[in-house]
Amino acid sequence: MASLRRLSARVALGALALCLVQPAPAQPTPAQQAVPRSAGTPYAARNLPDRIMLTPSADPAKGMAVAWRTDAAQAASEAQIAVAVDGPTLEEKASLVTGAPGVAKDSANGPALYHQVRFENLMPDTVYAYRLKGSAGWTEWMQFRTASTEARPFRFLYLGDIQNGILTYASRVIRQAFHANGGIELVLHAGDLAAQRDDLDHDDEWGEFNQAGGYNWGIVPQVPATGNHEYVDVALPNGAESRKLGPYWPLQFALPANGAPGVKATTYFVDYQGVRFIVLDGTSAIDLGTMKQQTRWLDETLASSKAKWNVVLFHQPVFTCARPQDTSEVKAAWKPVFESRKVDLVLQGHDHCYSRLTSEAGREASAAMRKGGKVQGPVYLVSVTGSKMYGLNDRARTQPDKTAEATELYQVVDVAGDRLKFRTFTASGKLYDGFDLERRADGNHLVDVDEPMIAVRTCNGNVGPDGGKCVARGK
Ligand SMILES: [Fe+2]
Repeated sequence: MASLRRLSARVALGALALCLVQPAPAQPTPAQQAVPRSAGTPYAARNLPDRIMLTPSADPAKGMAVAWRTDAAQAASEAQIAVAVDGPTLEEKASLVTGAPGVAKDSANGPALYHQVRFENLMPDTVYAYRLKGSAGWTEWMQFRTASTEARPFRFLYLGDIQNGILTYASRVIRQAFHANGGIELVLHAGDLAAQRDDLDHDDEWGEFNQAGGYNWGIVPQVPATGNHEYVDVALPNGAESRKLGPYWPLQFALPANGAPGVKATTYFVDYQGVRFIVLDGTSAIDLGTMKQQTRWLDETLASSKAKWNVVLFHQPVFTCARPQDTSEVKAAWKPVFESRKVDLVLQGHDHCYSRLTSEAGREASAAMRKGGKVQGPVYLVSVTGSKMYGLNDRARTQPDKTAEATELYQVVDVAGDRLKFRTFTASGKLYDGFDLERRADGNHLVDVDEPMIAVRTCNGNVGPDGGKCVARGK
């Protein structure tokens, strides 16, 4: 025994000596660093499901859907679902739910099949457990809760563009958001979930997106809006350039399809415990000629809303914090509807900066309005999660109430009765901005919160808010 111990000690010392004489690994050259992550197949489909994405039905008190991916050996789309019990006996009362056979999608990571099933006729306010089938067996059981049929307090997360540094940088923001804030019941994505540029491997990007969110994407229903980067460039037969929705969107998200005519893959609404969430597609509206039908549908969907709060989600912001001009088409068509139909929050991305704007006339006018007890109209937000950053434009210095540059952020929103609490946190979990909307007899009143917040984060010349270089570039 003793000699064995001596032997293992010698082996360990030998290994240590070997380590000591090993040269330090060479640093990657600039050329190597420029190589996209896609070399090899880091995100090959396996014999167990991955890329598991839960999405709400239009009425998430009664239905949810799930999308996932397997290797080519699992053609059938099979899920089991059961009302969650607290012992390890979920299999006993589980029912099988099937969908259409998996859809094949080839990529640099090899062949894969994408599956979807819809869980229907569920009971409200009930925890369900589900699992998914791969060729090697079932996944673990994953749990979600259906919505209540009544307006009940709940919390949702709003994320701006994840798009760049998806795994390297955006992942920590997502994980911090979930780690620091229990009870998140929905996740809203304001578009550009991945970059999908020609020089990147799109499958790797979606692999990173799923690795960054991990199991949270499968247990909390996701409410995504498309950004311009969810579209890919195509050449029309006449040689002109156009755009079409990238292949991953419909494979990855089983959405309600209750949106504007002709734009059903990317526009929809969801009623969740007293809030109507309306998702629009700015890229399709601006570039593909669907502005009219989206605007009409937006107006109708707001008019028919019985919800206390109405939240609209899309990508290209009405008021931009980085670009030379506001998004004129969106501003002309949708802003009047937001105002006339009394939308509460307008959640956007695209500009890779932060902006909370409560009056087009600027922050001073807005503060004066509040002091005078005036009702608050729609509050316009722009935020960013990933690593690409744009510098603030000149308007952003005086128009929004609060802005940030070169800062990764997440937003936690608590809805409870007549109060909506909006809080913005930085990547490391520091409170950066916050306000409450109070619903009174005459409408919304915005209340600034008296909670400790960190200082405003902007670049000062070439120096960034963390003291290093300014990574926000002019747009
Ligand atoms: Fe973007």
